[in-house]
This record gives sequence, structure tokens and C-alpha cells, in this order.
Amino acid sequence: MTLLELRDVTVTYRGTAGEVPAVRGVSLDLAAGQALGVAGESGSGKSTLAMALLRLLPRDARVSGEILLDGEDVLTMKWGRLRAVRWASASVVFQGAQHALNPVRRIEDQLAEPLLVHGLATPAAARRKVAELLEQVGMPAWRARGYPHELSGGQRQRVMIAMALACSPRLIIADEPTTALDVMIQAQVLALIRSLIAEHGIGMIMISHDLSVLASMCDRLAVMYAGRVVESGPSHEVFQDARHPYSRALAAAFPTVGDPASRMAPKGLGGDPPDPRHLPTGCSFHPRCQVSLPSCASREVELWPAGGGPAPHTAACVRVLPETAGAQGEHGEEPGAHGEEPGARGAVSGRPVEEVQ
Ligand SMILES: Nc1ncnc2c1ncn2[C@@H]1O[C@H](COP(=O)(O)OP(=O)(O)OP(=O)(O)O)[C@@H](O)[C@H]1O
Ligand SMILES: [Mg+2]
Repeated sequence: MTLLELRDVTVTYRGTAGEVPAVRGVSLDLAAGQALGVAGESGSGKSTLAMALLRLLPRDARVSGEILLDGEDVLTMKWGRLRAVRWASASVVFQGAQHALNPVRRIEDQLAEPLLVHGLATPAAARRKVAELLEQVGMPAWRARGYPHELSGGQRQRVMIAMALACSPRLIIADEPTTALDVMIQAQVLALIRSLIAEHGIGMIMISHDLSVLASMCDRLAVMYAGRVVESGPSHEVFQDARHPYSRALAAAFPTVGDPASRMAPKGLGGDPPDPRHLPTGCSFHPRCQVSLPSCASREVELWPAGGGPAPHTAACVRVLPETAGAQGEHGEEPGAHGEEPGARGAVSGRPVEEVQ
């Protein structure tokens, strides 16, 4: 069953710096109990998309499209309903979330608060639930009486995960949940999240720039570049056999899970991500692309079927179009090869696919 459906979601910030098109026409589906990883370099729009899901964006952000959570559009929901959804149906764990704990309140009071505020438990039942939640995230119940400063960073992040689980959500959005932690603790916390969502059948959207971490955690991956999804498919296919040149560069940059050296900008990917206020014409990636064709400077390709397997796999690259792929062979051509491309000038046969997962 589909838990979350995004249809043509677009977010534009309209601040003092002018219009920033941070997310451009993103369509994605997430099934109940499935984990979707969203990857992309800094500034590609991942956090903006995550915040849009629960309408947590600043006031100057304009959002359009549809965000259907259990079939209900989050973007048109009344306030009261939205508040209930934020607690009861979906929760968010943000980067550095452990700093969000109140330093002068006991852990148990902070964990019990959502349950009490939303009338989900009596004080006695809330205390029992807090002990249970701490146990689930691998912490002894006596920690409930303590304060955040008595915990390590990893333990505080575990408390934040416990808090996200408190109201038994159907969806967890985890935006770089472990980047503030050291590598060993990161691996532990990631394994914990993975086992908890599997055990409770929770859907998850996990955001990271590290494709290898996402591939190890998630069923499916979506790769974002300059506000668009440029590739999406089963994790192992996107990680091992990426069809978009940008996804391939990301996969090559993060070869192994948890490799500390991989916490850097993607190697082998020259140049910087574009400023969303001044996007290149055509395919936004073409100035950095090693296998671009002349038409890429003027033509933006939609997501097209790209995978060999039965599960949907799509990529937005001229090289996956049947006529281009057929005429030029598979990807992996000489860098900078600018051959003649049959599909570039003529009409494209068939229709681009809607992103389906
Ligand atoms: N409040 C804001 N006002 C204007 N522009 C913004 C605002 N927040 C983010 N942006 C811009 O929107 C774009 C997307 O930012 P976002 O934070 O979503 O990227 P990200 O993929 O999460 O990056 P990172 O990996 O660094 O967290 C960037 O160009 C950023 O500068
Ligand atoms: Mg971010």
C-alpha cells in the first residue's frame, strides 16, 4: 500500500537573495514499511524536500504539487489536522537533532511529552512507554531520570530516535541523522534505525549525500541534482549500475559503507553544484558531465525507464533514451565524447514515465 505519494512537488524560496528554485517537480512514491534513500550533493534540495513533507519550511517558501500521506494532501490540510499528523503519523529526525533536547528537563519528561500532550497515555502509562522506548533504542531505563548533558552524542541521538518512535508513526523522515556522530557510533545508530523500522513496519525517507550508506539501509534510492530527481530505482541497481552519469559519480565517490574518507565531496566529479538561481540551460548537470552530448546544453530529459530488472528504475539522461542508447551503445564512452545523437533533434517517441516506486 502506498504510504506517501509526491506529485510534481516544487519549492521556491523567495527571500532577500531572490527566487531560489530549490526543489523542481519531484514525484516519488513510498510504500508502507519501505525505506527510500534520497542522495545528492550539498544544496541539491534534500532538506527542503524533507521539510516540505510536513510543511516545516520557512514562510518565504512557496510549495506546489501534491504530498499525499495515506491519501491525504499535506499541503491543503487544516492546521489542526496537520499538527495531529506531525505527531501521530510522521516524525522527523534532523541532522544534529540531539542538540534539540532541552538541557534542563529530564529525558523522561521530554519523551513523555508528546504522549501526554496528545492524550495518548496517562502519566503512569507514559512512564512505562518511556522505559520501553529507551530499551528499544538500546538504553537502560534508568537513563530516563537523567538530563541530556549526562549522555554522549550517540546516546542523545538515540533519545531523539526514541522520541520519533514515541507516537508509533507510520513514516519517519531522517535527514542526515548520524552525520554529527563518529563513524563507529554512526554505524550503530544506522543499524538501530534499520532494525526498528523493519520491526515496526515503518516507512522511512532517509537523506544523505553518502550513497553507500543509503544503499545499505534502503530498499530504493532517489538521486537529486539541482532540485530534481535524476535517477530512482532499487538500491542495488542505482548503487552498482547507476544509469545517470551523476549517480555514477556519487556511487564512485562513496565506494564502501562507513568509510571515513568518503565523508567528503565526491571525488572524480569536477566543478561545483550549480547555484539554483542561475541554473545551466538544458540538463543542469551537463557542464560537469563527462559523457554529455551537444544537445544536453539545451534539452532537459524527463525520467525514463532505465533498469534491466522488474522493479521500476528511471533516469533523466539523454543516454537512456532508447534511440540514443541504441545508437551509441551503453554508457561508459570516452570522456567528452560528443557524438551525433539521433534522439536529440527528432521528436522523442513514447512518453516520459511518471516516477513510480
Ligand atoms: N531559507 C532559505 N532561503 C533561501 N534559500 C534557501 C533556504 N534554505 C535553503 N536554501 C537554498 O535551497 C537550496 C537547497 O538547499 P537544501 O538545504 O535543501 O539542500 P541539501 O540538499 O539539504 O544540502 P545539504 O546536503 O548541504 O544539507 C540551496 O541552494 C540553498 O542555498
Ligand atoms: Mg540538508
